[in-house]
Amino acid sequence: MWLVRNLFNTSLGLKYLMALTGAGLFGFVLMHMLGNLTIFAGPAAINQYAAKLHSLGPILWVTRLGLLVIAAIHIWSAFKLSSENKKARKVHYEGTVKPVDTDRKNEIVSRYASRTMIYSGMIIAMFAFYHLAHYTWKVPQINGVEQINGNDVDFEEFFVYEEDAGEKQVAFVTPMPKGEGKEGENAVDVYRMVTTGFSVWWVSVFYVIAVGLLCVHLSHGLNAMFQSLGIKTRTTEKLISRFACTAAWLLFIGYTSVPLGILFGFVK
Ligand code: HEM
Repeated sequence: MWLVRNLFNTSLGLKYLMALTGAGLFGFVLMHMLGNLTIFAGPAAINQYAAKLHSLGPILWVTRLGLLVIAAIHIWSAFKLSSENKKARKVHYEGTVKPVDTDRKNEIVSRYASRTMIYSGMIIAMFAFYHLAHYTWKVPQINGVEQINGNDVDFEEFFVYEEDAGEKQVAFVTPMPKGEGKEGENAVDVYRMVTTGFSVWWVSVFYVIAVGLLCVHLSHGLNAMFQSLGIKTRTTEKLISRFACTAAWLLFIGYTSVPLGILFGFVK
C-alpha cells in the first residue's frame, strides 16, 4: 500500500509513473505505426489487418481501456509534477541566459524542452481527440471530404466484401455499395477510409504537423524516461540520446509517409 501511496504522492513516484506510462504509450505509437505501414502492401493487407484487430472483441476493448488508463495517468502525473515544480521554484528564471559553454547550453536547451513538454503534450492530446473523431468515431462533419450529391462523405459506410466468389486475391479489396455493409458484420474498408481522408490536403498537413510535434515530445520524453528509471548515466547518456533521436525520426518518417504518400499519389 505504501508503494502505491509513494508512487502517487511523491515527486520521485510521479516521475516513475510518467516514465512507465510513457513507455506504454511509446509501445502503442510504435505498434500503431507498423500497422499503418501495411497500407503500402495494398488494400487487402491493411483491411485484413484491421479485420483481425476488430475480431479480437473483448481483448480489443480491454486493450483500449488499458490505453485510456495509461494515457490518463500520464497526463495527470504531468500536471501534478508541473504544479509541484512551479511551487518549488522560488526564484524566477531570467528571460534570456547567454550560454557560456556546451554543458550549460545543453542544460538550458533541455530545461526549455522539459518546460514546453506540458504544452506539446496538451496539443497531442487534442490531436488524438480529433484523430479518434476522424477515423474511429467517423464523424462526417470533420473529415473535410467534399460532399458528393449534397451528402457528407461518411466513412461509416465504407465496407468491403471479406470473400468474393472464393477468390483470395479480391478478398478485402472490393468495396461494398453504399448502405449494404453493416458495422460489426462486414469488414471495414480502412484502405478507402484512409486514402479518402488524406486526399484532403489540409487534413494531411495537419497530421504531419501533429506527428512532428509528437516526435519532438517523444524525443525528449524518451531521454527523460531513461533518466527517471535511473538508466541514464554518464556512460549511457550519449547512446540513450542517440536512440531517442533516431526513434523519433523513424516514427516521424513512418507516420508521415502515409498522408504524404496519399497526397502525392503514391498510394491511390
Ligand atoms: C498518419 C498517421 C496516422 C494514421 C494513418 C492513423 C490511422 C488510424 C486509423 C485508420 C485508425 C482506425 C483503425 C480502425 O478502426 O481499425 C486509427 C485509430 C487510432 N489511432 Fe491512429 N493513425 C495515425 C496516427 C496516430 C497517432 C500519432 C496516434 C497517437 C497519438 C494515434 C492513435 C490512435 C488511436 C488511440 C486509435 C484508436 C484505436 C482503437 O480504435 O482502439 N494515431 N488510426
